Parts: sequence; structure tokens; C-alpha cells
Amino acid sequence: MPIFHKTDALKNHFSAISKGDTIGMVPTMGALHLGHISLVKKAFKENKHTIVSIFVNPTQFNNPEDLEKYPKTLAADVALLQKEVSKEIIVFAPSAEEIYNGTIKSSSYNFGSLEKVMEGAFRDGHFDGVGTIVEKLLTLAQPNTAYFGEKDYQQLQIIKKLVQLKNIPVRIIGCPIVREENGLAMSSRNERLTPELRIEAAFIYKTLKTAKQKFGTKSAVQVTAWVTDQFQQNKLLQLEYFNITEANELQPFKRKSKNRKYRAFIAVYADDIRLIDNISLN
Ligand code: PAJ
Repeated sequence: MPIFHKTDALKNHFSAISKGDTIGMVPTMGALHLGHISLVKKAFKENKHTIVSIFVNPTQFNNPEDLEKYPKTLAADVALLQKEVSKEIIVFAPSAEEIYNGTIKSSSYNFGSLEKVMEGAFRDGHFDGVGTIVEKLLTLAQPNTAYFGEKDYQQLQIIKKLVQLKNIPVRIIGCPIVREENGLAMSSRNERLTPELRIEAAFIYKTLKTAKQKFGTKSAVQVTAWVTDQFQQNKLLQLEYFNITEANELQPFKRKSKNRKYRAFIAVYADDIRLIDNISLN
């Protein structure tokens, strides 16, 4: 399986492929699970070449402890890609020095109202960090198509905006959330949950599903109050936010309209582990 740590080696590899061959890219921070694998399988099916980047991007972490504790499991990641998809997958696993040329700093973007809510509001500088690394990776690998999960739905919308703003010629595809059997959205951070918290965390998706049902007859304000109350009664999970927004710009709204699409978003702490999830309300 080709594994590159240097940008020059990756560029060399791609300069040798035939013109007209399509490249699919899946950017990740590693600690791969079946959520990531679903994206890689789709990319592998739809493209001649598939590249998976594995890079824990320091500039998108607002919390240094979260960065430090983020799992790093390159050997296991490579083995999983090989077992679940193919040994033809190209892995790009650079160091921070290699990617940032010594200056580990974000560029600054104007994502408008999209960056002012939820993850943008609660994680200072997060989307500038995501924009910086995704712009670097897309510019370097020049894929025809890049695949991102709806697990990070706000990030997906930010990246669609990024490629517009920067005129990057790539198609951005959103892929559905893959869940554990108990409904918990798969996440690299789940590895840090104790067995008890892992079971308890199923409460997040269970609450989202009931919120969706309630949104059929109740207002966003009423559903939000109900969810807040559910979490106040839960001793193990702390609600950071629950928001119902329209599904594109992710802004709050006054009145529901039949013709618009809505989504609910949630961020919860289980101990010091931050979990996010979301659900379509239509
Ligand atoms: P990471 O959290 O590793 O996720 C990589 C990709 O996998 C993202 O597009 C994410 O939405 C998707 N993903 C994660 N869990 C998923 C699940 N349960 N179901 C479906 N897709 C899932 O997101 C990042 O890394 C970084 O911010 C990155 C875009 C790589 C930039 O550093």
C-alpha cells in the first residue's frame, strides 16, 4: 500500500498517473473507524485513484488537551484500509512541519453567518483551522471529488463554501452518518469513552430521534426546551448546545415553513469528551 509522508513524493506519484484518471480524496485525522471507511469505499468505487489523508491538524483544535489526547494509530489505520477497502488506497500521512512549513498557523476566511453558530461559536478559530488544512490538501492532491461526512454537517457546509470562495475545482460530496449498533454516531473520540459512558451516549441519538418526531407538531423553541430538560435529568451527559436551524446556512428561524429543510444539531460532553451529532428533520 503506497504511504507517503512527504508532499513532493505525493506530487511525484500523481504526476505519473494517466491524464483523465479520476482522483477521489478522503481527508481524515486518522483513528479510522467504519464511518471513515464508508467514505473511502464510496471514493474507491467512484474513482480510478483514491487518496486518504491522515493528519491530526493542530490549527483546528481550540483545546490543547483535546489535541494532545487525540488518538494516533497510523499502523492500525493502514491495516483497516487494507482489510476493509483495498491495498490500492494511497495514504498521505505528513507531519505538521511538512504541511505547515514550520509556521503552524491558520489562514483567515470569511465564511459569513455559517461560521458564527454552533461549532463556530463554541470552538474559537476551529473553522479557520479546518479551512486552512482542507485548502492545503485539496490544492496538493487536486482530486476531482472529495468526500466528507454529514457527521460534521456544519464542516461540510463550510467546505462547500471554501471551494467556492477559493475557486478550487473539486466536487464536494456529503455522505450519511454511520452509527454504532446503539445509535451513537461513530467517532474517533468514542474510543476515549468508558464502557458505561459509551452505553449512556446512545441517549444522544435517541433524544434526536424523539426531537424529530416532536418537531412534526411543535415549534423549534418547544422542542429545544424539551431536549434541554431531558439533559438536565441526565447525570452523565452535559448538553453544550441543541439547535434547530434551516439546513443550508444553518441559521435560527422564526417560523417553520413547509417548503424549507431543517436540521437539529447537538453537542454534548461525556466527562471531558465532546460528542456531536445531527439529524435531518424533514
Ligand atoms: P475526522 O474527524 O477524522 O473525519 C474525517 C471525515 O470522516 C469527515 O468528513 C467526517 O465528517 C467523516 N466522519 C467521521 N465520522 C463519521 C461517521 N460516523 N459517519 C460518516 N462520516 C464520518 O473531520 C475531520 O476529520 C477533519 O476536520 C478534517 C476534515 C480531516 C480536516 O482536518
